[in-house]
Amino acid sequence: MFRLNCFGRKSHTFLPKIFRKMSSQPKERPESLQFPFLDDNDTIATIRESKTLFILRGLPGSGKSTLAQAIHDKYKDACKVISADNYKIQPAVRSAIPDDYSKVDEDLGDYCKRDISVLVVDDTHHERERLDQIFDIADNFRYQVIIVEPKTTWKMDCLQLKDKNQWKLSADELKKLKPSLEKDFLPLYYGWFLSKRSSENLRKTGQAFLDELASIKVFRKEAKALEDPKAKIDLTGYFVKRPPGVLHCTTKFTDYGKAPGSDDYAQQEAVKSSYGKAFFLTISALFITPRTAGARVELSDQQMLLWPGDVDVLQPAASLPKGSRAHITLGCASGVEAVQTGIDLLEFVKLEKAGNKGEEIGEIGGGRLLSYGNGLWMLQLSKKIEVRCVFSGYYGKGKLVPTQGGSKRGSPFNACIII
Ligand code: 2AM
Repeated sequence: MFRLNCFGRKSHTFLPKIFRKMSSQPKERPESLQFPFLDDNDTIATIRESKTLFILRGLPGSGKSTLAQAIHDKYKDACKVISADNYKIQPAVRSAIPDDYSKVDEDLGDYCKRDISVLVVDDTHHERERLDQIFDIADNFRYQVIIVEPKTTWKMDCLQLKDKNQWKLSADELKKLKPSLEKDFLPLYYGWFLSKRSSENLRKTGQAFLDELASIKVFRKEAKALEDPKAKIDLTGYFVKRPPGVLHCTTKFTDYGKAPGSDDYAQQEAVKSSYGKAFFLTISALFITPRTAGARVELSDQQMLLWPGDVDVLQPAASLPKGSRAHITLGCASGVEAVQTGIDLLEFVKLEKAGNKGEEIGEIGGGRLLSYGNGLWMLQLSKKIEVRCVFSGYYGKGKLVPTQGGSKRGSPFNACIII
């Protein structure tokens, strides 16, 4: 029940080895077109079961359309490309976003509504305001954004670009566009974003856990709902909000570059080479507190390379083993921010470190249920869950949104919070 993606990593094992090799031959591709989502089989399989919005960004003539074509060739019918060139929108430094983009957005929205797995928007994307419009669309339809810049040697060379761009822009016109494209574009946070399929499965598993927990006597007693034994504890309704976009495990909260250490993190070789690449995350437990519901993630050595050194700290002073905070937020109680889930998980780890292994309540569907007191509950999974993810960034506004399937507030649990 708790095993996701039974076909996972081994989906190609039925192919003879030689064909498996042939299906991923980065050497055939010019270096400027080598990206994990074009060359790496695990990444391609993960993207296929996700909803991904590739935003191509760069000067006219830098190789965006070739890249868009390569993505289309790879994902074929599962992919739609929207190119600003086809809408006759000329790249320029301008004081306002042209109205012509409303047609682009209408078409993009139509594709999103159809759940097309891979969408590519090919445009210079040199204006923050225009990007924000696209990030809003991605949020509305729960697409994961991957920003891609061409890797051609001439991508910033205006003298060469003037002969390559189809708008026949002069070197001077290109130079005006250049500064906004030279700056690093940092997300609100970096992290591993679950495929649509893994997200749906993990949500269902989390839901099953909440439903079962709500029926357990000891839990109900702690939630003080037993006075009316028929009272329904509605934990799904209690955790009313979730982060926007797809389920994710945050690595570094960069706050669009404003958070301390953001630039250093973004420049790390591991971060740059992992961007847009698939990973398998292992989930070892599910937990709830009166504030948040989440999944505990166990990081491999390779994943640890993307984990910042300063996030496993529980204020005022408890420093916990690297990776302790790794989690996926499943839901937040009313008025609670998503950042709290990581802090709540560190609370469990601190107790574990102090020798408190939790009181074993018993085996329930999926694993051992432990109570740590003060409303802290953890389900230690008997079978760890493996989820498919892509390492990328979240660029939208980050405002929490209603949990899907969440019902009314003010459940009995709400009225009986222990802390
Ligand atoms: P989390 O769910 O992984 O905890 C939007 O607010 C997202 O940013 C949340 O999902 C939360 O991730 C993360 N976040 C917000 N503030 C943060 C902070 N100060 N440190 C780390 N992550 C933060």
